[in-house]
Amino acid sequence: MPNPLSPILQQMPKAELHIHIEGSLEPEMIFALARRNRVKLAYASVDSLRQAYAFTDLQSFLDVYYAGASVLLQEQDFFDMTWAYLARANADNVVHAEIFFDPQTHIERGVGFAAIIGGIHRALEQAKAQFGMTGGLIMCFLRHLSEDDAFATLELALPYRDKFIGIGLDSAERDHPPEKFARLFARARKLGLHLVAHAGEEGPSAFIKTALDVLHVERIDHGVRCTEDAALTERLAREKMPLTVCPLSNVKLRVFDRMAAHNLLHLLEAGIVATVNSDDPAYFGGYINANYDAVFDALPLKRRHAYQLARNSFDAAFLSDTVRQQYLARLDTFFRR
Ligand code: HPA
Ligand code: ZN
Repeated sequence: MPNPLSPILQQMPKAELHIHIEGSLEPEMIFALARRNRVKLAYASVDSLRQAYAFTDLQSFLDVYYAGASVLLQEQDFFDMTWAYLARANADNVVHAEIFFDPQTHIERGVGFAAIIGGIHRALEQAKAQFGMTGGLIMCFLRHLSEDDAFATLELALPYRDKFIGIGLDSAERDHPPEKFARLFARARKLGLHLVAHAGEEGPSAFIKTALDVLHVERIDHGVRCTEDAALTERLAREKMPLTVCPLSNVKLRVFDRMAAHNLLHLLEAGIVATVNSDDPAYFGGYINANYDAVFDALPLKRRHAYQLARNSFDAAFLSDTVRQQYLARLDTFFRR
C-alpha cells in the first residue's frame, strides 16, 4: 500500500542540497553521449552498465561513477546533463537546488574549465527563467587527490568566481581526512566562498569534528555516523549544523544495511537540522522524492517530520534571508491547506 503521506512528500516545496551532477547521468544518456563524442565505454550496453550498479561500498561506486563521467567532453554535454536533472527536480517540486560538480574528473581528461562550468551554469539560468527555480554551484574537490592538485583547480576556477557559491570535498573518505585540505579551505574562506564537506559517511565521526574545527564548514554532507558520538550529536544540534542526508545512497553503499536501520528519525529527534537529498540519483535508485518515499516507508516518520525536513532544507540552504522567508512562507501555506 502506498504511504498515505506520499502525496505531501511529492508536492511539498523543497530544496535539494546534496546532488552530484555527474551522479545524475542516467545510463541512456551515458550511451548517447558516448556515441555523440565517440568515447569507448567498458560496458557493451545500457543493461550491462546497469548491472555494474551492484555496489558494496563507496569505492565500488566511485569506480563506476568516474567511468560514467568519462563521456562528458563538450559544454553542451554538461548543459544536457544538468538540464535533465533540473527538469526532473522541478517535477519533484524542488524549488532550490545547490549542485555539486567535480571539475578534477574532467580537467584530467583535457576538458576546459569554461566548458564544464559554462554548461552547468547555463542550465541553472534556464531553470530560473523557465521554472523560477533558484540554485547555486558548489565545486567539489576529490579528496583522494593531493591538496596541490586542489589548489591548482581552484586557480583555474577563479576567473569564474561569479558562477559558483562554494566548495566541497567528496570522493573516497577513508584515509583522506578533512585536515588534508586545511590550507585550501582557509583560502576559499578568505575568498568568501561557502564551505561544505562530506564527512561521516564511510569515515569515522572524528572526521565530522575536523571538518567543523579545521575546515570551518557550514554544512556536513552525510554526517550520519555522528550518532556514534553522543557529545558530537548534541553539538551538531546545539550549533544548528545541517546534515545533508541521502537515504537511498546510504543503503546502496551499505552505510546502513537496510532502510529500516537508517538513523534519520533519531537525528531529527536529537534536534539536528537533517535534510533529505538524492546524492547520485541515477546510480542509487531515485531522485529526491524517491528518497523521501523510501525513508518514510521504512521509518515511523509522520506529517510533522515531512514539514520539518522541508523546513530544514530551506534553513540549511545558502539563500538570502529574503528568499529564505519567501520559501518558508510558501511551505507554511502548503501545510495549512
Ligand atoms: N560520497 C563521496 N563522494 C561522492 C559521492 C558520495 O556519496 N558521490 C559522488 N562523489
Ligand atoms: Zn555525496
